Amino acid sequence: MMLVLTTVQEVCHWVSEVKGNNCIIGFVPTMGALHRGHVALVERSVRENHVTVCSIFVNPLQFNNKEDLAKYPRMLNDDLKLLEQARCDMVFVPSVEEMYPNEVLEHYHFGSLEKTMEGAFRPGHFSGVAIVIKRLFNFVQPDRAYFGEKDFQQLAVIRKLVKTETLPIHIVACPTVREEDGLAMSSRNRRLSPEERAIAPKVYHILLNASQLFPHKGVYEIEQFVVSEIEKERKIRLEYFSIVDKKTLKKSGDLDNPNGLIGCIAFWVGKIRLIDNIEFTK
Ligand code: PAJ
Repeated sequence: MMLVLTTVQEVCHWVSEVKGNNCIIGFVPTMGALHRGHVALVERSVRENHVTVCSIFVNPLQFNNKEDLAKYPRMLNDDLKLLEQARCDMVFVPSVEEMYPNEVLEHYHFGSLEKTMEGAFRPGHFSGVAIVIKRLFNFVQPDRAYFGEKDFQQLAVIRKLVKTETLPIHIVACPTVREEDGLAMSSRNRRLSPEERAIAPKVYHILLNASQLFPHKGVYEIEQFVVSEIEKERKIRLEYFSIVDKKTLKKSGDLDNPNGLIGCIAFWVGKIRLIDNIEFTK
């Protein structure tokens, strides 16, 4: 039976019992409205650890857009069914008061990582992610924590958090799960109208075409290609497309970059903002 806990006290009690039995804990933090992308993380954790914990918490600190927070899809009963099927052992579903009983005073900085792409367009977002993840890690004390490559910059931020705070947690990166038409799975996809949903996958196809140009065309030319292809789509508005070093996430024009290159994109379909990315390999 899957356990559903709502208080920090219950979680800490459960964790100390599990640790007492020398169990290895895998952890999948989420904001709910679960889809196959989330389930893939949970299934991997179930394979690799003795017990798996998932958290569902729509974290207000990481939203820089009130409407996005208010309209973020919430469907706890469906989520719990999916987690039970995936053989998750414990789900932590805290309230905002439980996570943030007092004024939140901490702020995390990530240097150059927070100055580009999601960091630049969503001020305070990564500090908000780090605050919630640091607290969840404290409660759950996982041995491994699972994150999706769809949120590539978030993964880099979490790795940096673990390093600078010297947390004894192994971060496991999991590949992006897509719909059959190529659209990266996202809880926000549920908010697309049928017309918007039909258009959204075009972005991934533009990214695939862009990746075919590599390494024959230079980084700047490939970026321009994506910009001009998206401009042709009247219902899609590009926020950024940036080809960066996979490790540092700094702009790189070096086709032989030893860390590899990744193209990260943020775009709007109607009022919904989505992100995606694609690797550039020779
Ligand atoms: P959320 O968007 O719910 O995503 C939870 C985890 O699922 C993240 O690690 C995310 O990268 C991963 N994920 C989402 N869509 C995916 C897909 N299509 N394929 C593979 N993995 C996918 O990311 C967050 O929540 C929050 O920022 C959180 C880390 C929970 C902190 O609040």
